[in-house]
Amino acid sequence: MFSESLIRLKEKNLMREIKNRNSPQGSRILIDGENYINFSSNDYLGLANHPHVIESAQKVIATFGFGSGASRLLCGGSILHDELEKKTAEFKGTESALIFNSGYSANTGIIPAIADEGDVIFSDELNHASIVDGCRLSKAKKIIYRHKDIGHLSELIKKENTARKIVITDSVFSMDGDIAPLKEIYDLCVTLNYSLSTPNFLLYIDDAHGTGVLGSGKGALAHFGIKPEPWIIQMGTFSKALGSFGAFAAGSKSTIEWLLNTARSFIFSTALPSCAAAASIAALEVIEREPDILNKLWSNREQAVHGIIKLGYDIMGSETPITPVRTGTVEEALRISRHLMKNGIFAPAIRPPSVKEPRIRITVTAAHTAEDIESLIKALSL
Ligand SMILES: Cc1ncc(COP(=O)(O)O)c(C=O)c1O
Repeated sequence: MFSESLIRLKEKNLMREIKNRNSPQGSRILIDGENYINFSSNDYLGLANHPHVIESAQKVIATFGFGSGASRLLCGGSILHDELEKKTAEFKGTESALIFNSGYSANTGIIPAIADEGDVIFSDELNHASIVDGCRLSKAKKIIYRHKDIGHLSELIKKENTARKIVITDSVFSMDGDIAPLKEIYDLCVTLNYSLSTPNFLLYIDDAHGTGVLGSGKGALAHFGIKPEPWIIQMGTFSKALGSFGAFAAGSKSTIEWLLNTARSFIFSTALPSCAAAASIAALEVIEREPDILNKLWSNREQAVHGIIKLGYDIMGSETPITPVRTGTVEEALRISRHLMKNGIFAPAIRPPSVKEPRIRITVTAAHTAEDIESLIKALSL
């Protein structure tokens, strides 16, 4: 039925392909019997395999079993879910938090719940696909502003006379590795909210790649020294730097209560297994107890970026461990990615429609050694 469409994808070199690991996630992986140094994961702190994370999940499997059997509202959750929510709120400096099953389900559940008919959403043009889909599910009007362009955002906002306006942005852009100008966006919202008895601006931040990476691990607001105001909603994931699974919304008590009552992906989906909540709690504990992991992540990132730039590559404005390397064409992206694989390096080619401009997406983690990064640089000197 779709064979002709598939042929067209193949002709354009745009067929997607799954690679199955035969090893744990980590800086070294095994695929089809071959070992690779892995520069493709979002496991920025190497916590997917941290002994404390594994042990905590195992203990909870032994006591709570695996499946959760029902949605949170139907008793699918356990005291571990509650503990994780309290810990997340404390970590993010908010009154309250709510767990979602994934970052995708958080964005597609939260956005339609906070932005209704008559409201207006302002969304950065490079926001993650799950935000785009969340916006599509919302009945609000959607307006796209140019990537990180505060002037454009402010101009568009001033043209709208609606009850509620919601600015939505990734904190760290997942394919570009640059950071949103959150301080300027925050200041804009403060100015526009000023003198109103009820603030009519909401700021929704997807901190999937900021949590565990920026602000000593606490995320983008901490990085910019921004107070978690009641009109800011922080969404984040446990699946990236925290090496676990699932996601969260963190905000004021009333925001979280509203989400619990209206976010459809929360209400109508089976709760995460308790062991996933236990793994996330353990990961947050590791970040608090072992701040050196973050130092290692950032010094590894410095080493990699220095070497990549020295070879003459354009890293497309990256400011974080997500390091895209511009390739110009899809064919060149595929060629470089295959060349890297032949040299024992796994770093995927990212092609349209995931991004407009093809690239190799290299993610550096705290688990890499200096030798791993040297091998990457050597393999990139084509
Ligand atoms: C910015 C951003 N938001 C949300 C998600 C979705 O998170 P999850 O993988 O937990 O569904 C991702 C994942 O790639 C992401 O990069």
